[in-house]
Amino acid sequence: MFEPMKNCITILTGAGISAESGLGTFRDEGGLWAQQRIEDVATPEGFARNPELVQGFYNARRAQAVEAVPNAAHEALARLEAEYDGEVLIVTQNVDGLHEKAGSRNVLHMHGALNGALCAACEHRWEAPLVMHVADSCPNCAAQATRPDIVWFGEMPYGMEQIDEALQRSTLFASIGTSGNVYPAAGFVAEARRLGCATIELNLEPSEGFSLFDEARHGAATQTVPAWVAKLLKP
Ligand code: APR
Repeated sequence: MFEPMKNCITILTGAGISAESGLGTFRDEGGLWAQQRIEDVATPEGFARNPELVQGFYNARRAQAVEAVPNAAHEALARLEAEYDGEVLIVTQNVDGLHEKAGSRNVLHMHGALNGALCAACEHRWEAPLVMHVADSCPNCAAQATRPDIVWFGEMPYGMEQIDEALQRSTLFASIGTSGNVYPAAGFVAEARRLGCATIELNLEPSEGFSLFDEARHGAATQTVPAWVAKLLKP
């Protein structure tokens, strides 16, 4: 069991933190899951059934993410990591690279990332080209079994042990821009509470797990996150 460090903040982010950078969320009005069925583009079965459709879906999101610019919320979290007297870990459900573009370094992509490619045959990982094709062959084993390095429904998210260790040594858990619909991420707040963390939600509206948070600030992330970070950094 880790002794709680002096200051350690674990921050979970979801699609809502990137909404004001122009990237769609999933479950808001007109969101991504209103445009495509999850089972068609975000499951291993969907990929096996129609790999062209799935590669096309992620190629479109990759092209959008490459053009997207971090917003004031991403920048505030990068400032927090740089200036806070302690550890700041961002556990993101997002697959865009906006936390890194804003300057955050300690980022864990639990659902993978659009800039990652994976070989389903040999599990080799490499930087994804902007456009991936079904016929691409793995640079390591040459198998035509390449896929986006994205964690689909029914697959194990990345970094679960590291996330658990971070929560054990955290004094504060913040959840930003996520609806709290998808596990295991949606269960982090209950675990944080069990471990004695203070918990705060910063979201446009109350999430599914709203009642589990000690504190909540509802509104747009570009407003709530910089104000919250400024308060944390106040001497
Ligand atoms: N500022 C703050 N919060 C916002 C903003 C904004 N500008 N815009 C939307 N939100 C909030 C919404 O109120 C919603 O609660 O962001 C949340 C987005 O929820 P979802 O669309 O469900 O996205 P997310 O929670 O990240 O989904 C989790 O589900 O489909 C899977 O793998 C996918 O990582 C994703 C996971």
